[in-house]
Amino acid sequence: MFEALQDQPKDKILALMALYRADPRDSKIDLGVGVYKNAQGITPVMGAVKTAEARLVQTQESKSYVGLTGDPAFADVMVELILGDAVAREQIAHAATPGGTGAIRQAFELVKMASPDATIWMSNPTWPNHPSIAKYLGMNVADYRYFDEATGGVDFDGMCADLKQAKRGDLVLLHGCCHNPTGANLTLEQVCKVASIVKTTGATALVDIAYQGFGDGLNDDAAATRVYASEIDEVLIAASCSKNFGIYRERTGILFAIARDAGTKDRAQATLAYLNRQNFSFPPDHGARVVTTILEDAELRSAWLSELEATRQGMLDLRTQLADELRRLTNSDRFDFLAVHRGMFSRLGLSPEIVEQLRDDHAVYMVGDSRINIAGLNAQTVPVLAAAIAGAKI
Ligand SMILES: Cc1ncc(COP(=O)(O)O)c(C=O)c1O
Repeated sequence: MFEALQDQPKDKILALMALYRADPRDSKIDLGVGVYKNAQGITPVMGAVKTAEARLVQTQESKSYVGLTGDPAFADVMVELILGDAVAREQIAHAATPGGTGAIRQAFELVKMASPDATIWMSNPTWPNHPSIAKYLGMNVADYRYFDEATGGVDFDGMCADLKQAKRGDLVLLHGCCHNPTGANLTLEQVCKVASIVKTTGATALVDIAYQGFGDGLNDDAAATRVYASEIDEVLIAASCSKNFGIYRERTGILFAIARDAGTKDRAQATLAYLNRQNFSFPPDHGARVVTTILEDAELRSAWLSELEATRQGMLDLRTQLADELRRLTNSDRFDFLAVHRGMFSRLGLSPEIVEQLRDDHAVYMVGDSRINIAGLNAQTVPVLAAAIAGAKI
């Protein structure tokens, strides 16, 4: 039967990584990959993670199954991390999932069960896995305007106008912070306006928060999610620990469903457990337990926070350096948005031809839509990238 299978679309980033690996030039710069890298080009295991893992090795006495929705202690620390006290705990249903991707997948499936004809509204552009999973599930997808190529900022009027078309029974997907792929984010005032629009439409919101701590700090990065969670009637939150704990391969994520009353919360909770059961039974535990160990222990938590802060600050410094260098070399403020953007990514607004030219002539690898991973740079490669961009026929 396998001969009946069709070719699947190639993952553009994986294809780019293969090209990068095959490039013999020593000077090559990889800005395509979607993981954090330090100045030495390494994705390190954080110190607090190593300590928590060592502690688990010493103390864990069983690896028997936990529960279908994961360890309740993990849910508690994640509620506290992401939501603080923005929403009463009794309103929140939860299920641990394999990474943030697993949470998004379960969220879409829950929406499909509750509202089979739902349209999922997504920012244009968004993380490519969003439309890909929705289409795989046979769900309707619509775009709302988001990125303004001319300014490198958010087309807020366009966004608001498009979101007003959402209906009760639809899902509006919002990025919690550090928008991927653009790096352009809403101000808190704009977040409040979006929350009020979505509330008025009666649609449910799904907040995807995968980079808490990579933008303006742990609490500031959660601010938008807290506004959405407390203002909009029904909210799903898909959270990933892959980036802020550096545990990509442990597949650690969680889905929250915030309901307005105890009855619907219980139904959402039972549905999340059912969905986990159908898709993979029990969620991965190791990463979740590492995160719980860190967040429950004051010393480990503070060590983790310092490392996360250093990571965040390092990316901000690279942003400022690149924006300054480009201002000097191009004698214009065209790329000043780089210092305003937050998170690991920025979309430069370069044409696919220029992206190709940068790769062929300068061994600079970025995704075709000109998204760069800021963490792929270091203080030495920033001037090289800036000179390559300034020298291209933009
Ligand atoms: C916007 C966004 N959401 C969710 C994820 C999910 O990450 P993971 O499944 O690795 O936890 C990512 C990862 O790149 C992302 O960029």
